[in-house]
Amino acid sequence: MLLHTRTWPEVETYLKGSTGMIMPIGSTEQHGPVGLIGTDAICAEVVAQSLGEKLGVMVAPTIAVGMAQHHLGFPGSMALRPSTLLAVICDMVNSLAVQGFDRFFFVNGHGGNIATVKAAFSEIYSESSLRTAGTNRPNVRCTLCNWWNSPKFQEICDREFGDSEGSHATVSEVSLTYHVHPKDGERARKAEMAPGKAPEGPIFDAADYRRRFPDGRIGSDPSLASAKMGKIILDAAIEDLAGEYQEFIATE
Ligand code: NI
Repeated sequence: MLLHTRTWPEVETYLKGSTGMIMPIGSTEQHGPVGLIGTDAICAEVVAQSLGEKLGVMVAPTIAVGMAQHHLGFPGSMALRPSTLLAVICDMVNSLAVQGFDRFFFVNGHGGNIATVKAAFSEIYSESSLRTAGTNRPNVRCTLCNWWNSPKFQEICDREFGDSEGSHATVSEVSLTYHVHPKDGERARKAEMAPGKAPEGPIFDAADYRRRFPDGRIGSDPSLASAKMGKIILDAAIEDLAGEYQEFIATE
């Protein structure tokens, strides 16, 4: 159930039965030679929308640009500063909260967003604690769910990809995008890529990142990616996330 394909009377009716909203958040950044620029946004969106469909929960528009300053050395990458992203999250949550939504389940597709999303939650709670939120806003609850932390998904990754999964332009996320966009996957996978696993190391700024990780990958070998595995991974993650959502929505 997508918020942006509903009418306002339909949203009003939905609110009589549920005050939950799924909030996909990703990133628009390089994902190595064979990974799509929108990988993190595509993954968060398909996971969030599949979850919403399974549970009959409304899904907000995807926050498709995230905190990705370290990827800016590669063409096509876009980044919001932490302060900008924090403001975007607070404004989106507060907009919906004044209408009665009060349970926000963030499905995240990008590790670089985690610190900022959590800071945004603290900012939102601060408004309740300091009583600056206004009387028309309920006490909201937010939670962050990184889709790749699903135990069922992890089990499949360990078994199928082992050490080649890596931490950026991972085999699993590239597989998931190939499942969602098979034609683009077919084209992208033909690009030349140095064989084997990419290097690993710390992340600082954009120039340093490009020096350490010349083709953009970190620790991964996405030549193992396939649309077929993408579908298997998606189904596994959704099963776990459905349980997490149910638990969250029941939180006092
Ligand atoms: Ni990614």
